[in-house]
Amino acid sequence: MKKLFFLSLIFLTVQAYGQKFEGLAKTPPMGWNSWNHFACNVSEDLIKGIADAMVESGMKDAGYEYVVIDDCWHGERDEDGFIQPHPERFPSGMRALADYIHSLGLKFGIYSCAGYKTCAGYPGSRGYEYQDALQYARWGVDYLKYDWCYTEGLNAEGAFMTIRDALYEAGRPIVLSICEWGNNNPWDWGKDVGHLWRTTGDIHLCWDCEYDHGTWSAWGFLKILDMHEQLRKYNGPDHWNDADMLQVGNGMDVNMDRAHFSMWAMLATPLMAGNDVRNMTQETVDILTNEEVIAVNQDPLGIQAFKYDRIGTADIWVKPMENDELAAAFLNRAEFPMEFEFNWEEHIFIDEIFEKEFSFSGTTYNIRDLWAKEDIGTTNVVKSIKVPANDIVMYRLHK
Ligand code: GAL
Repeated sequence: MKKLFFLSLIFLTVQAYGQKFEGLAKTPPMGWNSWNHFACNVSEDLIKGIADAMVESGMKDAGYEYVVIDDCWHGERDEDGFIQPHPERFPSGMRALADYIHSLGLKFGIYSCAGYKTCAGYPGSRGYEYQDALQYARWGVDYLKYDWCYTEGLNAEGAFMTIRDALYEAGRPIVLSICEWGNNNPWDWGKDVGHLWRTTGDIHLCWDCEYDHGTWSAWGFLKILDMHEQLRKYNGPDHWNDADMLQVGNGMDVNMDRAHFSMWAMLATPLMAGNDVRNMTQETVDILTNEEVIAVNQDPLGIQAFKYDRIGTADIWVKPMENDELAAAFLNRAEFPMEFEFNWEEHIFIDEIFEKEFSFSGTTYNIRDLWAKEDIGTTNVVKSIKVPANDIVMYRLHK
């Protein structure tokens, strides 16, 4: 009896530490993050306005859930060491802001850093992990993005485990977004630590550029896509490869935005809008709220697409989905349009990692064009596929 008591005590102790909150991100998280568009210009008025616009624009109905304040919300620590928001930017405090966001049926996200400062130089969590986690729980935070600046001497896996354990101890289920830019192979250890991990340096607002910051680079949409490709075996429910926030609506051409959004959906990576959702063109709204494309991203299997082949300048990507369905995307990387005949019956899509096979010679699939929003026939008819310059054609195939 005594032995049993001690054994269960050990079990409970092991349970209380060393784990993440399971099941908080069974499909890729969807929401909005301030960094790509606003950088350090964050305030409670902005965040409330964004949350309102997420409801009014239809984004909430389309599935966007988290409103995440990235860097620069911080003020000082109080005399007991508890972090406080910037008094001028967030005069009503974080609890009030969280309550407001929750009252709209949305969830509240915040940002901190494993180092002693955040990347923008505000107080980081190093040495304050348990206290910060407690503060976030008291505020009603639902999502924490945790960054990797000023971390000299720290081991990445250990540092992220510390904040994981601190969040668990604080008792409020909080999604943990690991952000160390893929530097320490987070795909090898992140599954038990957080719910998503960034795979690369920051996304830059361009189609295919590298933007050199000196000690690190930011990357255009295609560059991140290509770097992400090899990581598909690590992706899955509750543990996602994070290709970074969306740049849709921030200034690229609409065709590029469409391609970028489609491929983030195909990758089964988080869909965190990064634009000013209070002022969107109709084209941007139509991209961000295309529910059929979002459904591909949110498919319960959570399988990241694989690159099947290239025809001319078009990469063909395939994403296996529930009920033996699949999505197929034809991404034209070039600055000129292209057109080709595609005889489905000559192709077999084989996914060796997730053990799926789609053969079109014996089975006929119906094809739904997800941007034209129309059914365009079946796979036993040879079709000509036209992809405009720097654009995409995306289909959902079902029997
Ligand atoms: C970077 C991070 C960005 C953003 C920024 C804030 O390290 O990758 O997404 O959070 O810090 O300073």
